[in-house]
Amino acid sequence: RMSVRKITTGSKALDDLLGGGIETKQITEFFGEFGTGKTQICHQLSVNVQLPEDKGGLNGKAVYIDTEGTFRWERIEQMARGLGLDPDKVMDNIYWIRAINSHHQMAIVDQLFDMLDKDNIRLVVVDSLTSHFRAEFPGRENLAARQQLLNRHLHQLMRLAEVYDVAVVVTNQVMARPDVFYGDPTAAVGGNVVAHAPGIRVQLKKSRNNKRIARIVDAPHLPEGETVFAITEYGVRD
Ligand code: GTP
Ligand code: MG
Repeated sequence: RMSVRKITTGSKALDDLLGGGIETKQITEFFGEFGTGKTQICHQLSVNVQLPEDKGGLNGKAVYIDTEGTFRWERIEQMARGLGLDPDKVMDNIYWIRAINSHHQMAIVDQLFDMLDKDNIRLVVVDSLTSHFRAEFPGRENLAARQQLLNRHLHQLMRLAEVYDVAVVVTNQVMARPDVFYGDPTAAVGGNVVAHAPGIRVQLKKSRNNKRIARIVDAPHLPEGETVFAITEYGVRD
């Protein structure tokens, strides 16, 4: 896959774990408990994709599909300053879209097929991939319907990634003891659909203070193991 390009996460250690960074033409999923840094990584990538190629970016723009209302322009400003970039320009190059339900979330992705054709977008974030689907199709009795829709959504995203050479990054909150909440671990973690989707899955865990642990799951082409990175005032760093 020669034409694959990569976006730096801001952490050399995390980039190394990922084989150089977040890939275009691919879906990368960050999953973990609340507060593990999924949203912070998505913010950081939306800034970093704008960097020149020799600084780990793709000279491109980002689309941020926000399903939980946790996107923060102030955080983008801080991260831009941390890289010596003009915050106003950086913010201009991020299209923030609030998705109000799963149907809207999928409609937005459909519309992106037109938008990406005309604009230099190299990153599409879906933060979070699963929250609306989980809220609208709760419990075991709705598992099949939810999986079917999520599957369709993932196929849309995969096609977008491949056709337009963009990196697609999605997040998925999982609980430490899903069985306690739902009585069915598969139901709680968004289902096998996410686990079996094409792409790269990165598990995040909390460590001391601002440190986080990242581990690649089920990726035969990437080395096993885990690494530590930090969430600082200026964003994701070693
Ligand atoms: P959920 O969406 O609840 O599942 O969590 P998440 O994995 O998206 O967590 P998120 O990325 O929101 O990480 C939250 C953590 O990032 C906080 O606990 C802080 O440690 C750190 N963080 C968030 N904002 C800032 C900030 O402005 N400055 C600094 N230094 N750290 C921040
Ligand atoms: Mg989040």
